[in-house]
Amino acid sequence: AIRETIRPRIKEGRFVLDDLKLDTQWLKSLAMIHIVACGSAYHAGRLGRNLLESRLDIPVEVDIASEFRYRRPILTNDHLVVIISQSGETADTIAALREAKSRGVKTLAIVNVVGSTIAREADYTLYTWAGPEIAVATTKGYTTQAVALMLLTCYLAQERGQMSPEELAFAQETLLKLPEAVEKVLSDHKEVQRLAAMFFNCKDIFFIGRGIDFSLSLEGSLKLKEISYIHSEAQPAGELKHGTISLIQNGTLVIALVTGKSLREKTISNIQEVRARGAVVLAVCLEHDTDLAGVVDYTLGIPWISEELQPILAILPLQLFAYYVAALNGNDVDKPRNLAKSVTVE
Ligand code: BG6
Repeated sequence: AIRETIRPRIKEGRFVLDDLKLDTQWLKSLAMIHIVACGSAYHAGRLGRNLLESRLDIPVEVDIASEFRYRRPILTNDHLVVIISQSGETADTIAALREAKSRGVKTLAIVNVVGSTIAREADYTLYTWAGPEIAVATTKGYTTQAVALMLLTCYLAQERGQMSPEELAFAQETLLKLPEAVEKVLSDHKEVQRLAAMFFNCKDIFFIGRGIDFSLSLEGSLKLKEISYIHSEAQPAGELKHGTISLIQNGTLVIALVTGKSLREKTISNIQEVRARGAVVLAVCLEHDTDLAGVVDYTLGIPWISEELQPILAILPLQLFAYYVAALNGNDVDKPRNLAKSVTVE
């Protein structure tokens, strides 16, 4: 699915989103981007914020659609609203799109279902080409949305002259390597299966991380909740001490995301805080991070690819963990109770 998302967008060394027919002059005047979505699409949008802000050097806000549509956001015609939706039929997200359009702001949809309402009504549409996604809890929808946001970031930076030829070449090179790296992580699922067998009876599971690793924690926690029915929550690692740490007791499972290099030391000190209160810590980290292995109980290591694309590998063990825990609990992994693939009502 990731190969299909990337394939038509890199040609002769250039990022190509020309089918969007975005006006280059207008792009150069772009002053702010709002990313709006629900559920896992919102979590993918959070990854996009870091990519877009760091490359385009403009403010990027990420909003949950059911919040965006009622808070009278400040929108002007040099803003772009990016709407993310796998189905293209989520009621709250459609309403957010219509709110943006009613305010005269350009809208760009990242959608998987061709011809869906959001695809038809947005000014510009970037399809993820992931193929039909049947399971209610999205996996390839999320990862291909993250890839689409990376492609959009590189395209906008290329058109605005904000990435050098070397940076563009490196981005293309790592994107073209990504599908194989994903296949390797997915094939290496024995350890995830073993850990799921140890923890599938947990009553509470906490996910912690900083920056991008917090955004990943949100998606890992949602995936687990949706299909295993185990209570779970994600916390910014630096926020634990302001309350939530009171819930940590002997044997509480804390899954720590430590895949970003810049905040690694800070997260390690948060890991030590929870372990001192009896938590069992499973870290998702870069493979061969032996120092980290010494301060946690279990690790799930992933290969390095690049700062920007690391989250797409890091989410995989969390998706697999949720899958195995749910299966071990005898749940219907594809059709979890109370949930719909697309929530077309408010
Ligand atoms: C939820 C789905 O109902 O809606 C999630 O269970 C999904 O998987 C969310 O992320 C948003 O759906 P969509 O189709 O707008 O991406």
